Amino acid sequence: MDSLLIKGGVPLHGEVTISGAKNAVLPIMAATLLTSGKCVIRRVPDLSDVRFMAQILKSLGAEVKVDGDTVTVRAAKLNPIGDYDLIRKMRGSICILGPLLGRQRHAKVSLPGGCVIGTRPIDLHLKGMRDLGTKITIESGYIDAKAKRLIGADIFLGGRAGPTVLGTANVMMAAVLAEGVTTIESAACEPEVVDLAFFLSKMGAKIVGAGSPTITITGVKDLAGVEHEVIPDRIEAATFAIAAAATNGEITIHGARPDHMHAVLDKLKDAGVKIERKGLALIVKRGSRLKPIDVTTLPYSGFPTDVQAQMMVLMALTPGLGIITERIFESRFMHVSELARLGADVSIEGPSAIVKGGHPLSGAPVMASDLRASAALVIAGMAAKGTTQVSRIYHLDRGYEKIDQKLASLGARIQRVDQE
Ligand code: UD1
Repeated sequence: MDSLLIKGGVPLHGEVTISGAKNAVLPIMAATLLTSGKCVIRRVPDLSDVRFMAQILKSLGAEVKVDGDTVTVRAAKLNPIGDYDLIRKMRGSICILGPLLGRQRHAKVSLPGGCVIGTRPIDLHLKGMRDLGTKITIESGYIDAKAKRLIGADIFLGGRAGPTVLGTANVMMAAVLAEGVTTIESAACEPEVVDLAFFLSKMGAKIVGAGSPTITITGVKDLAGVEHEVIPDRIEAATFAIAAAATNGEITIHGARPDHMHAVLDKLKDAGVKIERKGLALIVKRGSRLKPIDVTTLPYSGFPTDVQAQMMVLMALTPGLGIITERIFESRFMHVSELARLGADVSIEGPSAIVKGGHPLSGAPVMASDLRASAALVIAGMAAKGTTQVSRIYHLDRGYEKIDQKLASLGARIQRVDQE
């Protein structure tokens, strides 16, 4: 199993280009199941989650071709039953439910697997499908969803922690081929939902309001194959920005969408990080002094939960007291104990992490627990004195394209090693 060996203390310098967004490409790949036409998706990041999704589409009968960062899918004929084990392994695979139901009124998929960042129910996805007229049974680990007709409905998708991103995507994908009008209230407003709506609209779907809490979809009879370029990954861009600040470096980030990153850029500025726009690029460097901040994770356009762990590292390096409150996934603090091995002083109080910053970090062997926690450990390792070994980096490979190569090109002393 691979691990990363990082020799810390080197400021990052240079230029990096952001890849396509993982959280946009996964539902868009699923949406290709809605048509028998050819779909060409560009700026697809090379990630294990993307390869997984390609395998899932193949297991459903679609032809999938990967050529560099372009993925071509043609789902001429489909079978309704997904490969149990493939789907179980990746949470994002739940978004094949909506397209399968939309296209053939039947989907049988395994319940997606658990996840260390907290309980991740799918009750809202199922509620949305039921509201559209689907009969759902759960048996032997499978969700069996069948509808004689899908009929447009008013659907409220607000949960305990606010809207659901993939739930909104799923219901939208079923509703585009339903009869009549569907209104999703308390819809997720994330840019990835907007990108999916853009893709579906190009296919011929009628969608109004994506990016706002009310999305209205007027069902159509069929959809056509299209070409699409995926939006850049705002979480990857935020991760690099934090890495530059944490290592006291200065980097230029190309290809990001700052308009998708307001909450993160604003917090970084509050923290004393200098952010400059130069044309379409972002220049990020640490200011003369870091300042303690408070962060609360919220649905978009609030601060993303997917950047919480990385931000904790910057806060751990900042003299003074900072607080992170996690409002999306209550147990998403698995990185705290690993950061403690490097010398970070963080304590958990209910949904909040109290960060007593300013203690010097020093390298240690640490273990990644989930995707964004892994990114946080890599940043901490680069900011720490000495050597850090991050094991279980398959989590990192799920969501960051060639992160070790990109960091090495910025001067990081980072090496992938095969650990017995
Ligand atoms: C997506 C992202 C993930 C990100 C998360 C929140 C993808 C592939 N993943 O995950 O990176 O961290 O959004 O921004 O896009 N909930 C329910 N019932 C449901 C569904 C969700 O109660 O049926 C709850 C969840 O437990 C959580 C909250 O709603 O507390 C938000 O989860 P959700 O937006 O659904 O996350 P995902 O779409 O799975």
